[in-house]
Amino acid sequence: MNYTTGTGELQHWLVAEDGFRTNWLGKGEAVFSLGNGYMGLRSVTEEHYANEQRNLFVAGTFNKFADNEVTELPNASDVLWMEFTLNGVRFDLTQGEILAYRRTLNLKQAELVRDVTWQSPNGDLYDLIFRRFVSMDNLHVIAQRVTITPKQESVLTMTSGINGQMTNSGVQHFLEGDKRLYDGRFMQQLQTTTESGIDFAFHSVHRFSQHEPFEPKSIIKMDRRQIFFDYSDVVIPANETLTIEKYSTVFTSRDRDLSVDTTEELANFALNATRDVEAQGYDRLFNDHVNAWDELVWSHAPITIESEEMFDQLAIRFAQYHLAVMTPKHDHRMNVAAKGLSGEGYKGHTFWDTEIFILPYYTYTNPKIARSLLEYRYLSLPGAHRKAKENGYEGAMFPWESAWLDDGEVTPVWGAADIVTGEATKIWSGFIEQHITSDIAFAAWQYYHVTGDQDFMDNYGYELLIDTAKFWASRLEWNEAEGRYDINQVVGPDEYKEHVDNNAFTNYTAHWNIQTAIQYVELLRQEKPELFEQLNEKLDLETADERFRHVLDLIYLPQAREDGVLPQDDTYLQKEIIDLTKYKNQENVGSMFYDYNLEQVNEIQVSKQADVMILMYLLEDLFSADVKRANWEYYEPKTLHDSSLSLSTHSVLASDLGDQKLAYDLFRRASEIDLGPNMKTSDAGIHAASLGGIWQAVVNGFGGVRMTGGNLRISPMLPQAWNALTYSIDWKGETLDVQASQDQVTITRRTPSTEPLVIEVYGETREITDTFTSEVLSV
Ligand code: BGC
Repeated sequence: MNYTTGTGELQHWLVAEDGFRTNWLGKGEAVFSLGNGYMGLRSVTEEHYANEQRNLFVAGTFNKFADNEVTELPNASDVLWMEFTLNGVRFDLTQGEILAYRRTLNLKQAELVRDVTWQSPNGDLYDLIFRRFVSMDNLHVIAQRVTITPKQESVLTMTSGINGQMTNSGVQHFLEGDKRLYDGRFMQQLQTTTESGIDFAFHSVHRFSQHEPFEPKSIIKMDRRQIFFDYSDVVIPANETLTIEKYSTVFTSRDRDLSVDTTEELANFALNATRDVEAQGYDRLFNDHVNAWDELVWSHAPITIESEEMFDQLAIRFAQYHLAVMTPKHDHRMNVAAKGLSGEGYKGHTFWDTEIFILPYYTYTNPKIARSLLEYRYLSLPGAHRKAKENGYEGAMFPWESAWLDDGEVTPVWGAADIVTGEATKIWSGFIEQHITSDIAFAAWQYYHVTGDQDFMDNYGYELLIDTAKFWASRLEWNEAEGRYDINQVVGPDEYKEHVDNNAFTNYTAHWNIQTAIQYVELLRQEKPELFEQLNEKLDLETADERFRHVLDLIYLPQAREDGVLPQDDTYLQKEIIDLTKYKNQENVGSMFYDYNLEQVNEIQVSKQADVMILMYLLEDLFSADVKRANWEYYEPKTLHDSSLSLSTHSVLASDLGDQKLAYDLFRRASEIDLGPNMKTSDAGIHAASLGGIWQAVVNGFGGVRMTGGNLRISPMLPQAWNALTYSIDWKGETLDVQASQDQVTITRRTPSTEPLVIEVYGETREITDTFTSEVLSV
C-alpha cells in the first residue's frame, strides 16, 4: 500500500496499491471498496482471478437460507465482470509481464482507478486504465470506464454481463428469475431471495467508442443465472484508444423510494432508469457523484490535521470515506454492519459497534443520519420484545446481532475451532452478551443531549429508554445473602470472559439505564402528561416506575479496591496472571488461541478488548481521575486489543489521562488495522467500528470533545506530531468550528448569538457568544 501518491490538491486523498499479488487480493478488495450506503461493492478486478471474493451487497436485503442458519446479507449479482482477449490472448495479470501497475482509490471523488501497462505472453504491449464509481448521487448506479491503448494493432474480444452465480461462502440466496435483452443492448436479470422474497432487478448496458461511438459485432448469451454479451472483432489500431463504458443499475423491492407493487413493475421501472442513466453518460454521472460526496461528506464535516506524519490526515479521511460508504442513511429500516458493505464477515449484522463506536460521529456531525440509525433500533423493538419474552424477561432485550427489524436474535451459535477439543466453539454472545441493551439506551440519551432533538425523544427516545430499563429491572437477580441485586452469567464487552457474574460494565450501565428511566418517567409525569398517558398505556409506566425505584439502590455496583482497581467482574482479579508480552506484540489478532482454548483463556487475567475502560469513558463522571489512572495501569497491559474497536477507546482514554504519546501510538495502530502493512487484516471486510473509533480518537480524544451530564466540554490536547487540528461539531442545532494547535484553541460559533453558549474549556466554564480563544492547559 502506498499513501504518498497524492500531490498538490490531491495530497492526503489517495490510497494506492503498487503491486498485483493474487494471494493478497482481499486487502485491496475491502480497503478500496466502493459504495453509497444503499449498496457496497467489493473492489475486485474486472477479470477473474483465483482467491478473489466478488461481493455486491444491498443494505437491508436480508435472507435466511435454512432453518439452522442465521439471516444474512446475500451476495448479489456480479455486474463488474468483464473478460478480455487481446490478439487472442486472455488479459490476465498472472501471465505475461506487468510493466507498470497502480490501483488508486481517490477518497475525495470516491473513484477507483487501475492503471496497468501489460505485456502479453506473445510480446504485445497494452496500456489499460480501468475506472469505476458507485454513485453517491443516484444510489442505484455503478459505472465503469475502461480504456485500452495497444502499442500495435490489436483485435479485442470481450465477454461482459451480469453474473448471478454468486453465493455467500457456498450458500445461494436467490431463486433465478427472468433474463432478457431490451433494445438489443440493455441486459436485464431478475432474481428473488429464497426466503425473504425480495426482488432484485439488475441491468447493464455497454458503450464503445474510438473517436466516435460504435456498436461492435456482438452476440447475446444466457446461461444459468447469467446474461452476457460476447463482443468480437474489435480492431484497435496501434496507439489508438478504445473506450468501453458499462453502466449498471441495481434496484430491489425493498427500495422505499419506489412505488412499485410487482416484479414486473420493478423491472420496468429499473429498465427505464437504466436507459436514463446511460443517456447521461459517465462524465455527467461522475460529476454529480463527486458533488454529492463533497456536499454530504467533505464540506459537511471536514477535519484537517497538520502532522509530521503524512498518514494521519489520510487516515481520518479514509475513516470518513468508509463511514459514508457503509451507512444506509436513506432508510431507517436499516443499520450499519460490522464490516460495512465490504465483505461477508459478520453476515451484514449490526452490533453495539453502531451505538458506541460509529454513532458519535453522526451524532456530532450529521444528526439526521444518527437519528435514522436510532430509529432502526426503535423500529426493531418487536424483535427485542420477543427476545425478552423468550428468555423470561420483560421490556426490550435487544439482540446482540441484529438484521431484520423483527428478527430478534441472529447471532450464530457455533464459531471457530477449539484447538483442545477439536469441536466448534459455542458463541455465547447471542445468549448472554446483554450490555447491547444499555448501549442502545446510552446512545439515544447521548444523541438527545448533543442535538437537543426533542421530537426524537417524544416519538422514540423516552420509550426506548424506559423499555430498555424494564428489561434490566426484570433481569436483575436477588442475592439474599448480600441483600442486593446481581446480574449473573453474562459476557461483558471483554468476550474472553464468559459466564461471569457482575461484569462492571454491564451492572453500571444497567443501573444508569434504570436511573435515567426514573428521571424521564418523572419528567413525563410532570411536564408531558399526554405523552405520559400514551406511554403508560404501552409500557405500564406506573408499575415499571415502582419497580425501578425499588431496585435502583439495590443494584450491585462493583467498587474499586483500595488501590483503585475496579473488578471487571466477580472473579477476574483472582485469576492467574501470565506474561502476555508475546500476545501484546502479536502481528495477527487472536494469537493467544494458538496456545490456549477459550476455556483456558477464561481463567487468565487477559482481556480481548476494553471493558472496564470503556465504562470509564462512557460514564466518566462516576470515576475520579485517580481511579481512572489506576484502572488504566491495571487493565491496559492485560488488554490484547484482539477486537479492532478496542484501540480507539484506549486512545481516547490515554488522551484524557494526558499520555499523548501513548494516545497517538494507539491512534496509529487503530488507523493501521485496515490501512496498515498487514495484508490479511481486511479479508472479511473493513472494520466499521474501528473506523468510527478513529474519528472518536481524533475529535473526542485529541480534540477533547465530550458531553457529560448534558454539558459540552472542549479541551483539545494534541499529540506531539501534530501542529494543528481543525474540526467542526454540531451542538444543539448549531455548528461549532474548533481550531487547535499545541498552544492555543479557538472555538467559533458559526452563527454568533447574543444568547451565550456555555462550554467547559480546560476546567473553566466559558460563556461564548461568537468566538473564544484559550491557551492550551493540561487539566
Ligand atoms: C468484538 C465485539 C464486536 C464484534 C463485531 C467482536 O470481535 O469482540 O465487541 O461487536 O466483533 O465487530
